Amino acid sequence: MRGKLVAGNWKSNGDLVANRRLLEQVRASAASMHGVEAAVCVPYPYLAQAQQILGDSSVVWGGQDVSHFGAGAYTGAVTSTMLTDFGCKYAIVGHSERRAVFGDSDALVAAKFDAARKAGLTPILCVGESLQERESGVTETVVGRQLDAIMAVSGVAALARAVVAYEPVWAIGTGKTATPAQAQAVHAFIRNRIAALDAAVAAGLQILYGGSVKAANAVELFSQADIDGGLIGGASLVADEFMAICRAAVPRA
Ligand code: PGA
Repeated sequence: MRGKLVAGNWKSNGDLVANRRLLEQVRASAASMHGVEAAVCVPYPYLAQAQQILGDSSVVWGGQDVSHFGAGAYTGAVTSTMLTDFGCKYAIVGHSERRAVFGDSDALVAAKFDAARKAGLTPILCVGESLQERESGVTETVVGRQLDAIMAVSGVAALARAVVAYEPVWAIGTGKTATPAQAQAVHAFIRNRIAALDAAVAAGLQILYGGSVKAANAVELFSQADIDGGLIGGASLVADEFMAICRAAVPRA
């Protein structure tokens, strides 16, 4: 059985004082939550703070990106082993903001994914189509291409220790969530594409939905057959809201 995962993506938000409050609230409320893993992906400078506050809790943490290079003369780049040094379990790769704003190509995302997994991190690979791509009917072509780029470099077996997040670009930070049926359709497409290569890897893969997830829409999204949790942006900055979303992922008897 696949477990549920709810990961917060703080993006470029936070400061030491606000983070402490948020991390302590998340930590306290996660203590009584079972059956779902809660994670926070924080800006690099706050990894040490996350490690210090969450270290002996059930909440895990990660980075929002990672360099495809190892150690060396790469000014400004943060390597996978630096993330593991600070206790990270996860590293997001291929977030649509990285792809659109920073120019991360499919090939670069694949290289980052490979560097992360080789260092023992679990990559959270983001895939998703723009509004224009959805309206022109090429959602599956785009998502398929983004997935294939990863498998071409790392192989399908690498997905046994990875998470995929389907995040339609038009739903990120816009308040426009994909309907549960729209999301489920793409999640099933992702799982089937991987199943064609390795059925066991596909069956075990956690596929998260991201894009304007809130406590109010989380239960319905997370009850879809192929939705195994969420990647949460804006709502992960508010402890009560984030934890309500985590609770929405707790398996029902
Ligand atoms: P959002 O962001 O929840 O604010 O829409 C999701 C994401 O970008 O991961």
